[in-house]
Order: sequence, then C-alpha cells, then structure tokens
Amino acid sequence: MRSLIVGTGSYAPEKIVTNKDLETLVQTSDDWIVERTGIRERHVASETEATSDLALKASLKALKMAGVRPEDVDLIVVGTITPDFPFPSSAAVLQAQLHNKKAFAFDVSAACAGSLYALSIADRYVASGVARVALVVGAEILTSITDWSDRNTCILFGDGAGAMVLVPTQDPNRGMLSTHLHTDGSLWPILYTPGGGTRMRMSQKVLDEKLNTVKMNGREVYKVAVRALEEVSREALGANGLQPKDVTWVIAHQANKRILDSTLDRLGIPAEKCWMNLEKYGNTSSASVPMTLDEANRAGWLKPGDLILMMAIGGGMAWGSALVRW
Ligand code: UT7
Repeated sequence: MRSLIVGTGSYAPEKIVTNKDLETLVQTSDDWIVERTGIRERHVASETEATSDLALKASLKALKMAGVRPEDVDLIVVGTITPDFPFPSSAAVLQAQLHNKKAFAFDVSAACAGSLYALSIADRYVASGVARVALVVGAEILTSITDWSDRNTCILFGDGAGAMVLVPTQDPNRGMLSTHLHTDGSLWPILYTPGGGTRMRMSQKVLDEKLNTVKMNGREVYKVAVRALEEVSREALGANGLQPKDVTWVIAHQANKRILDSTLDRLGIPAEKCWMNLEKYGNTSSASVPMTLDEANRAGWLKPGDLILMMAIGGGMAWGSALVRW
C-alpha cells in the first residue's frame, strides 16, 4: 500500500509588501533583490493572525478538494518553526479549529524542509495502514522572526500555509514512491535564531539586540543548498530506478531563483518543469512546498501518472526529497 495526495490547498495573508516598500526600510533596491533572488513581493500576516489560522484556511481548501470531512482526519502533522505558542503544537490548535476529535496531532521542526519531513512521516503512517486520512501542513509566519533592519534577511521571507491530504491507495501505478531526509547538525550556526529559546533565554538584551530574529550566512547556505538539493534529488530518482529525464514536474522549496536554476541545471532538468512562485511569496519556509504544489495542481499542471520530484532545504541544515507518481 502507498499513500496518495488527493487534496491540496494554500493560503497567503492579504497584506503584500513589495521590494519598493523594503527600499524605505533598508538600503536595498528592487533591482538588487530581483537579480539576486527572483523575489518581487511577499505576503505578510497581520498582528492578529497566528500560524494555525493560516494553516486552517489552507487545510479547509485541501480537505474540500479531497472530499474529506475535517472530523474524519486521523493524523495532523504541521511543519513549522513559527508556531502559535512554544507549546502546545500548532497542530493541536489546528485540530481544535477543525473541530476534529479523532486525530493525533503534532508539529515537526525542520525549518524550510518542515513540510517534506511532515510528508515523510505521514506517508509512513498512511502506507502502513495506521492512519487512513492524514493532513500534512506547512505553515509559517516567518515575518514574526524577521529583523526588518537587516537587509541580508528581510528581503527574503514571507508568510503563508500549504496543506496536503493523504489517503491510502492500492493502485500500483500511483502514490508516494519514496522520501529521503537528511540533516547536518554541524551547520546549525549558518541559519538560526540565537535568542528566545533555552540556550539564550528571552531577555531585554535579546529584544534590544534583535537576537530573536533569523541570522544567516547567505553565501554558505547557498553553497550547501545547491549541492544538497542535487544530491537528494539524485538519491530519490536512483532509489526508484529513474533518471532526471523521467521527471514531469519539479515542486521545490522557493528559497532563491538562482539556487533553483543551478540545481535544475546540474540535474539537467529544464527550468520550465519547475513551478516558480517566489516572485509573489518570497521564501515561506515550510509552507513553500505545499503552497507551490497547490498552485501547480489548481493550474491543471499535475495529471495522474506524472512523476513529481519535490525538494527542500533549510536551517539545521535539514533537507529532503520526495518522489510522487501523481
Ligand atoms: O531556505 C534557505 C533560506 N536561505 C536562503 O535561501 C539564502 C541563500 N542565500 C542567498 O540567497 C544569497 O546568499 C543572498 C540573496 C542572501 C545574498 O546574495 P549574494 O549574492 O550571496 O550576496 P552577498 O551576501 O555576497 O552580498 C553581496 C553584496 C554585499 O556588499 P559588498 O560587501 O559586496 O559591498 C552585501 O552587503 O550585496 C550586499 N547586499 C545587499 N545589497 C542590496 C546584501 N544584501 C543586500 C540587499 N540589497 N538586500
């Protein structure tokens, strides 16, 4: 038995911040941001929106497409590094918002790879028959941990949520073929939030020095990302006796257009096969893969039998891939 994605949904908050808007906050330019990243604008959550609110909107759309009632979901996994609370999980809050009593629900912390990690876990539960309907969500309000005076990072991030509904299938020609996850914990200092956790407790100093916001060595992240995404894509294809030329569509974490172009180039996969939306949303961390999947799905790109290669990388560093026969 395999798991099959039968519903997708996404949601981005209403407020849009353009590159021009950022020009008023930091010394940057629309041209620089577009040339170095491909990003033109990003959606930003309001002060009254929490991560699970975004997750709920994406989830309801995915459940509707799947024809599944919220109360029938029996597993909820949310990938997020910006949860509603330190505890309980945003997955638990989402379960309550869905008026679901049946599911066991938990968050996964793997930064931008969070939804792929969540997908990999849910796939195991569904394919083994332990769960019959899994709701996998990537939801993030990264702008809540963004330093709006740091031009290295504030140009990159945006908010949003994406959701996928998984059910079992006996069809030998469809479903999740495999998932592949990796972590190199020695690289945590190149992309992280220093303060506000237990290593550096929340304090006035943390707030004054904005140590509760994302710090990043962009060049190092870039180098690791291109190498890891190529490797993990080849690993997924190799594990299934497939080649890059067999891929119908690529659904990738939207971090930076240049990272994606280089990765696709190394794999020999034409850029036209990769759905890009970072122009509109920026880097939405774990929301990125399911939001992108939903856009491609609703645009009619994905047909039964298509081979879909998903990939993502983020802080940890943590990365992964999934190969799906749609
Ligand atoms: O999910 C993973 C999340 N993280 C990422 O995906 C980030 C990966 N890294 C990147 O995308 C790129 O490294 C960046 C887009 C962040 C930066 O691009 P870069 O080509 O690596 O630029 P750089 O950091 O080497 O900086 C080049 C110059 C520097 O000026 P000097 O030292 O050459 O005078 C920076 O100070 O560009 C300057 N700079 C900027 N200029 C205008 C850095 N940020 C900006 C900015 N606007 N926003």
